Amino acid sequence: MKGIILAGGTGTRLKPLTTIINKHLLPVGPYPMIYWPIIKLKEAGITEILLVINGADQEMFETLLGDGRNLGVNLSFAHQKGPNGIADGIGSGRNFVGKKKFIVILGDNLFEDSLVSYIESFRLQEKGAKVLLKQVDDPQRYGIAELDTEKKIITSIEEKPIHPKSNLCAVGIYMYDSSVFEYIDSTVPSGRGELEITDVNNMYIKNDQLSYDFLNGWWIDAGTHKSLYTANSFYYCNNREGNNE
Ligand code: DAU
Repeated sequence: MKGIILAGGTGTRLKPLTTIINKHLLPVGPYPMIYWPIIKLKEAGITEILLVINGADQEMFETLLGDGRNLGVNLSFAHQKGPNGIADGIGSGRNFVGKKKFIVILGDNLFEDSLVSYIESFRLQEKGAKVLLKQVDDPQRYGIAELDTEKKIITSIEEKPIHPKSNLCAVGIYMYDSSVFEYIDSTVPSGRGELEITDVNNMYIKNDQLSYDFLNGWWIDAGTHKSLYTANSFYYCNNREGNNE
């Protein structure tokens, strides 16, 4: 299975830190943020990785990561023309993934769990997609899933709901088969001018093809000042090696 990491976008909520530096190059522990999703994929045996970035940031990412060999992966780059949404960013990976299943990680999502068991269960899934859910305290900030607990299915996902139907966030770790590209082609920009990944996931739901698992360990979307701080404190408080001062 191949992996796509999204590292485009504008990082508006982290300004002025992101005025001259891409969000995914800001520090989390001793590494730039972008190292973490790469390490998570590598640990799960996924070494063919596409990094979707803004063209203007290419030099910085290449200087830092090169072709990925220092991290034990084979990295290639795709440019997203603008911050046109997560679904648009994933669309840039069409040729890279071809007809096979793949996994996507949003570059500002940091988490504790190994991806191995989730990937294994998705490998056994005949077709469709899988999302991972995590309980959150601030559901208005995320894509929020409504479950039918008897049938064990997601009945809908709502992006940044004003009146959330649950506190179950669909985190930025998605597994798809190649039909995702047809779904992306049929999405239209939302009110905020983006091709929403939530719209794509709802298309899978409509076709009874979206499975889910719960993420067990901690998870952080490090897209705000406070959550970036929390990510760093998690690293320095929980890191078992603990010697990286
Ligand atoms: O973190 C989980 C949440 O991520 C989900 O629950 C939401 O459903 C999903 O829409 C997303 O919400 P955010 O508002 O946090 O997305 P954000 O714009 O911060 O972008 C998330 C990542 O994707 C970030 O690492 C930048 C990258 N990105 C984003 C956009 C809009 C791109 O590479 N290209 C883009 O066009």
